[in-house]
Amino acid sequence: MHNLLLPLLILGHVIYPASSSIQVLLTTGDKQHLLSPQPNLTWSTGQSGNILIDTTKTYQTIEGVGASFTDSAAYLMNKKLSTAQRTALLNDLFGKEGANLNMIRIPLSSSDMATADFTSDDMPQGKSDPLLEKFKLSKHHTDSIPILQQIKSIQPELSIMGTPWSAPGWMKTGNRGWWFRKGLIAGTLNDIWVEVYAKYLTKIIEAFASYGIVLDSITLQNEPAFTPWDYAGMNLTAVQEANLAISVGKALQDRSLDTKILVHDHNWDIAYRAIRVLENATAAQYIHGVAFHCYGGDVTAQSTVKSAYPDKEIYFTECSGTLSSGNFLSNLMWNVNNLVIGNIRNWGKTVMLWSLALDKKGNPNVGGCKNCRGVVTISNGKYTKNEEYYVLAHVARVARMGAYRVDSTEKYQSIRSVAFLNPDNQHGLILCNDANSAVQVSIQEGNMIFTYTMPSFSIASFYWTQASQLSENSHLIQ
Ligand SMILES: *[C@@H]1O[C@H](CO)[C@@H](O)[C@H](O)[C@H]1NC(C)=O
Ligand SMILES: *[C@@H]1O[C@H](CO)[C@@H](O)[C@H](O)[C@H]1NC(C)=O
Ligand SMILES: *[C@@H]1O[C@H](CO)[C@@H](O)[C@H](O)[C@H]1NC(C)=O
Repeated sequence: MHNLLLPLLILGHVIYPASSSIQVLLTTGDKQHLLSPQPNLTWSTGQSGNILIDTTKTYQTIEGVGASFTDSAAYLMNKKLSTAQRTALLNDLFGKEGANLNMIRIPLSSSDMATADFTSDDMPQGKSDPLLEKFKLSKHHTDSIPILQQIKSIQPELSIMGTPWSAPGWMKTGNRGWWFRKGLIAGTLNDIWVEVYAKYLTKIIEAFASYGIVLDSITLQNEPAFTPWDYAGMNLTAVQEANLAISVGKALQDRSLDTKILVHDHNWDIAYRAIRVLENATAAQYIHGVAFHCYGGDVTAQSTVKSAYPDKEIYFTECSGTLSSGNFLSNLMWNVNNLVIGNIRNWGKTVMLWSLALDKKGNPNVGGCKNCRGVVTISNGKYTKNEEYYVLAHVARVARMGAYRVDSTEKYQSIRSVAFLNPDNQHGLILCNDANSAVQVSIQEGNMIFTYTMPSFSIASFYWTQASQLSENSHLIQ
């Protein structure tokens, strides 16, 4: 309870305590402000706002904000930072005074952002392991468990997602041969091993759980419609993915695991593929939602899928900038427009970027993206925060796990908005000004207004406790 913040109800009129003022965090494209607290704002009565917030009209709930805890990120955190630097970084990423991130996606095999190729049941050439007797959680994972536990201790409200890039090589067909990088490159899941693979995934979930790392969700396959030629990957047609969803769904039930199954985990422009998966009604029973990446198409595809399957949830799971594209200002604006405001206004429950950390050359990697930029860059024993860090922080600081996205005017001049109502009754609002001039904007909730001048090319996050029409909200006065 925020009992100290409760307004006083006196003869039907409301007196707002000073603490119901509005707090503001600001980032500008010129880097003059980087998640910088601004002077508190105050409410006044009025009905002529430019951005109207209506907390009675709710959409999806937010699950989390974060990025992928890749093998590369774990390696850099483990080997390239001192204990003190690592703790400082994890607090900057997951602490309340930092970005306040509360979600991570763990690649369940090697990806491109890895220090080697691996799964948790790699077998010698020509051998298979139908009973999974050789299953052993990869050393790449066990080495990173202490960091995951430290993240959990900093951020108890952590949602964890797992995603395989490839099944063990012996379960695949059409790959580039076992002798070539453990069989993890290219190819697809051999039909004869589908049920064994489903069991393998439950074993991974149980192995992480034995260290206190509970996977809340898994996507069945990273980018199933893409065949990478120089890092772990595995293509799956929509029919194959539906089939796998049924097997994994049953295997999870057999083990009494409530890990949610997400499908697609691929680009907006092939959203029709996700609909193909969900068209299998048996598979759909086991599927909680559809996950999207940014590397093709447009974020409105998320709403297309939500309209076709309103009972399925929409997750946004991956996007990465590259070291050579854009600059801080343009990357900031693109990310906030598409992955924050666009994504959340198109049903996204999560805002997740690619690797939490990489070095200043986009290393280490075993192929794939050679110049990706991490949320932070770790080099020379230090870390620096990139535009991705500020984008994520602007959401995670004002939209907690379980927050509803609530209605707000989408656009006023060059300002776009998205608003939230958190479980603890804190209200959140993100504004973005994507123009080269300052804009004064007034925000209205009920019969109350506050005004703010958004600098050119800026993001501001606002949060406050219930402020409007309090005399009618007697549930607040208890
Ligand atoms: C702004 O408001 C918050 C809580 O309402 C308070 O903790 C903080 O001290 C205020 N900041 C300033 C600068 O007054
Ligand atoms: C998927 O893998 C199979 C087996 O290797 C292959 O025949 C097929 O061409 C691949 N599909 C794509 C789109 O790469
Ligand atoms: C769903 O997929 C399963 C497994 O591939 C298949 O047996 C079943 O016929 C499919 N059902 C529908 C309605 O397409």
